[in-house]
Amino acid sequence: MSDQQMDTVLAETRKFPPSSEFSSKAHIKSMEEYQALHKRSIEDPEGFWSEVASELHWFKEWDTVLNDSEPPFFKWFEGGKTNICYNCLDRHLDGPNRDKPAIVWEGEPGDSATLTYAELHSLVCRFANVLKSLGVGKGDRVAIYLPMVVELPAAVLACARIGAVHNVVFAGFSSESIKDRVLDSQAKLVITADAGWRRGKILALKEIVDAGVEECDCVENVLVVKRGIEEEFAFSMKEGRDHWYHELAAGQSDDCPAEELDAEDMLFLLYTSGTTGKPKGIMHTQAGYMVYTYLTAKYVFDLKPEDVYWCTADVGWITGHSYLIYGPMQNAATVVVYEGAPNWPDNGRFWEIVEKYKVSIFYTAPTAIRAFMKWGDEFPQKCDLSSLRLLGTVGEAINPEAWIWYHELIGGKRCPIVDTYWQTETGGIILSPLPGVTPTKPGSATLPFFGIDPAVLTDGGEEVRAGILSVRQPWPGMTRGIWGDQERYKDTYWCKWDGKYYFPGDGARKDEDGYIWILGRVDDVVNVSGHRIGTAELESIYVEHPSVAESAVIGVAHEIKGQGLVSFVTVRQGFEGDETLSKALNALVAQKIGKFAMPERIVFSPDLPKTRSGKIMRRLLRDIAEGRELGNVTTLADPSIVESLQDQFNKGA
Ligand code: WTA
Repeated sequence: MSDQQMDTVLAETRKFPPSSEFSSKAHIKSMEEYQALHKRSIEDPEGFWSEVASELHWFKEWDTVLNDSEPPFFKWFEGGKTNICYNCLDRHLDGPNRDKPAIVWEGEPGDSATLTYAELHSLVCRFANVLKSLGVGKGDRVAIYLPMVVELPAAVLACARIGAVHNVVFAGFSSESIKDRVLDSQAKLVITADAGWRRGKILALKEIVDAGVEECDCVENVLVVKRGIEEEFAFSMKEGRDHWYHELAAGQSDDCPAEELDAEDMLFLLYTSGTTGKPKGIMHTQAGYMVYTYLTAKYVFDLKPEDVYWCTADVGWITGHSYLIYGPMQNAATVVVYEGAPNWPDNGRFWEIVEKYKVSIFYTAPTAIRAFMKWGDEFPQKCDLSSLRLLGTVGEAINPEAWIWYHELIGGKRCPIVDTYWQTETGGIILSPLPGVTPTKPGSATLPFFGIDPAVLTDGGEEVRAGILSVRQPWPGMTRGIWGDQERYKDTYWCKWDGKYYFPGDGARKDEDGYIWILGRVDDVVNVSGHRIGTAELESIYVEHPSVAESAVIGVAHEIKGQGLVSFVTVRQGFEGDETLSKALNALVAQKIGKFAMPERIVFSPDLPKTRSGKIMRRLLRDIAEGRELGNVTTLADPSIVESLQDQFNKGA
């Protein structure tokens, strides 16, 4: 967060209590009720969570609720046997939800489909049988690289059903990112599509996968979903390795009993950025994640049988896992899935979808809201948004101006807004208003969810008003660690305060009402349009280029994206820092990560500002990039660098 943004947030004093009409119908109706339940969840977590777990289906009940004998490796519901896919689908088949729409799908070109819970169940069973026919079983890793078509949630649920570990790779990642993830997780199957649609263009996904898996000996098969595109695009099928999903599915039964899995069997891996050049495979297991996403979805989104719920996140990110698939489907919600871009064929597409399907709960990212604001009020104003009753945001702190716009233009001043704070690692929402209870303040994620005991601390562990966010005790949805690197898990999340608290990596402030305001990352992770990118990832890519000597990448405030990246690069002697090199470096980032990770700007400079001990002063680079007065530069080894850097920066501006 820039200083200016921080000032706006600190000055924010408006409060928006929920209407009594909303509260009277909500699952949780009053602050007293919330406080009593929260207190109970902290004082007696085992009692609290076992009651929640009892609302779900178990093949066999657990022996212990929480095993905390080996911190930070906490285990939940040990001895229990369950299946999250069963709880998302089979559990609903005996009652009225059987014929209720589970997925309402809309493709970017305007094609659409509706699947009831019974139909989705059949599809998932058939998909699971296809996986089995390819030799995939419990514990095997399956990489999924699909556009937002119905087969994406179906593939995810099919893996869960047979106990295979899904590893979804967002379809904006490059071939090399696929390769890294497939190799790190040793996936034996990759599921993809021939292509997908994005902003009117064909994404040639199969071609990208082919380049990615070329050198991956672990991959035995590639399963290809046909998107149904008439236009020509490049792709090929490799004999013996590649199979059309629809051909294999045609011969399969739609009966496939859900595997009876151990509570701590792995459910999925999802790679996310950290402070090193190498993304980490965050692990989640069946039961704890299941119980936590079930309850957070129910209470934070106040899900009711008649709701039409739309989370605009891609399944390639954690939000799509927890709040497009697992959370809402355990609650038998009707979930809208949209394939494409918000501005295709025009800037009103999202609002047309809200009107068309009578969406009642809408969950999106602040970066999208800021883009809508810029595109103009006329687009939402043209549509009937009266079906909406609740709005949500996720991914970064929302600036009060965007919050108010969302509240007025989209919510018609009647919908509560839940600003939900959480991470890939937390599995589900950990800070959020409850919509029928919490008076909201624009820009604050407000109060902890049940089972979450947050504190704002100094580096030394003292409680303070503004400092670093921590969480004091384990909760069921938390990660079980980093695939293949549990030392890194301990170091990253548990070392800061001697193992006593979980360290999410965000700065925070607690106000006089106990509300928490997230102030942004305190490590070298940047949230670009709500997507995490480690600055070290770009830095390690740049130095692979023969003309680059050194680089420092920083996050700077960005009007739409929240944060953008600026790369400061020094070139080796005899090389030129020019337009051609800029393009080459951008191409390298697109090739190694994906286009979405390209910086706003590359600034070439003869040197970088360093302390006498050789540490790059990033704070100073941020000041330069955001045009701030520079403070004391006397600790620099060579203070004259700053002037030349400012010159370089202003030249390109
Ligand atoms: C940021 C996304 C402020 C935060 C679910 C966190 C937020 C990172 C919020 C996790 C919010 C997410 N307010 N900041 N409501 N939600 N963040 O793993 O910096 O992609 O650490 O999970 O996003 O990003 P991730």
